[in-house]
Amino acid sequence: MDRENVQRRADLVARAARSFEIMFGEAPAIFAYAPGRVNLIGEHTDYNDGFVLPCAIDYGTVVAIGPAASDQLCAVASDYGDDRDAFDPNAIFVSQKTEWKNHVRGIAASLAARTGMIQGANLAIAGNVPQGAGLSSSASMGVALAKALVEHQQITGLSATDLALIAQQSENAYVGTACGIMDQLVSAKAEAGAALLIDCRTLDTMPVYMPEDLIMLVIHSGIERQLADSPFNQRRAECEQAAKYYDVPTLRHLTEDRLIADRGELDDVVFRRAQHVVTEIARTEIAANILSNGDIAKLSELMRQSHLSLRDDFEVTMPAIDDLVAMIGKHLGSRGGVRMTGGGFGGCVVALVPKDQVQPVMDPVTANYDPPDGRPVRIFQCLPSSGARII
Ligand code: GLA
Repeated sequence: MDRENVQRRADLVARAARSFEIMFGEAPAIFAYAPGRVNLIGEHTDYNDGFVLPCAIDYGTVVAIGPAASDQLCAVASDYGDDRDAFDPNAIFVSQKTEWKNHVRGIAASLAARTGMIQGANLAIAGNVPQGAGLSSSASMGVALAKALVEHQQITGLSATDLALIAQQSENAYVGTACGIMDQLVSAKAEAGAALLIDCRTLDTMPVYMPEDLIMLVIHSGIERQLADSPFNQRRAECEQAAKYYDVPTLRHLTEDRLIADRGELDDVVFRRAQHVVTEIARTEIAANILSNGDIAKLSELMRQSHLSLRDDFEVTMPAIDDLVAMIGKHLGSRGGVRMTGGGFGGCVVALVPKDQVQPVMDPVTANYDPPDGRPVRIFQCLPSSGARII
C-alpha cells in the first residue's frame, strides 16, 4: 500500500472518530471499513445472473461504532455536517427524506430480518468515495455499516457473502434501487491486488490478479447521478421482459444463437437490451481469463466492444462520456482499455493504462475535457484493494 493511501484512510478514521466523540462524548470501540469499487467489465449483467469483473478501490467508508445507553441506534454522518438520526432498530422501517438515513435504517432492518434482534448502538460514518460517480459509495457504506454492527454485536455465522446480501437487500427493499449483487459482494470480499470475477448465478468468486504495470485510472465525467432516480430500474424491467419472451429464467440462460434465431416479433428496444447482456456476459468471461496473463490488446478490444454495446444497445452512456472514452481510446490504441463504468447515466470512465502512459493519458484529458458541472476534471488513480475489514 502506498503512503497516500495510508494517509487517506487515516484521515477517514480521524473524521469518523471526531464526529463520534463530538456527538457521543466518548471514543468509539471499533472501526469498520469497506471499499468502493470500479467495474472493469460486465455491466448490467449482475441482475441477469451473469459474470462481472469489478475491483475494490482504495476509497471507502469508515464506520465508528460503540455501545449506546439506550435501545436506540444513533447515527451521525460526518459527510453531512454531522447530521444525525436516532431510531429503534427493531421497529418497522419508515422511509426518511434524507437518503443516508435510509441506508442506515435499511441495513438495520435487513440485519434484524436475517439475525433477529439488533441492539442499540452509537455510530459515526465518514466516506471518501466520490458520490454519484458510479463508484459504489452506497454499497461501501452499506457493507461498512453491516460489518460494524455484526462485529460490535458479536453476531456470528455470517460470511462476507451474507454481509453483501444484507446490504443488497437494504438497497432493494428500503432505498429503492433494484441493484444486483456486484457492488456489495466485491466491497465485502475483494482481495488486495486483484479484481474479483463473480458468477452472479452461484455467487462464486475468483480473484483475478492485476498485472503490476497496469494502472487503474478513473475519470469522473462531472455528471452526477443517483441510481434510485435514474432509468436503472427500467433497464432491469426490460431485461426481465426479454427473459420472459425467450422463456428463460434469466438472460444468463440465453445463448447468442437463440437470441438471434428466436427473435421473432420481439420489440427492437427489448431485443437490444438482451443483446447487450448476452454479449457482455461472454466478454466478461474472456476478459477474466486474459487479464492476469496480460493480453492487453485483447482486453482493450473487449472494453471497446463493451462501451459500444452500452452506448448503442443498452443506451446508458451520455455524449460527454462517449467523448471521454473516444479521447482516451484514441491515445491508448491497443496499449490499454477504456470504457464507461458503473450503472451509467453519468459517472465515471475506467481506463487500464500501462504505467508509462499514465501521464500522457491524463494530460490531454485535463487540457481538453470540460466537465459539464464546471469543476476541474477529477482523475483518480486507484489501487486494487481488499474488501471489508475491522481496522
Ligand atoms: C449499479 C448496480 C449494480 C450493477 C451496475 C451495472 O452499480 O448497483 O448492481 O447492476 O449498476 O453493472
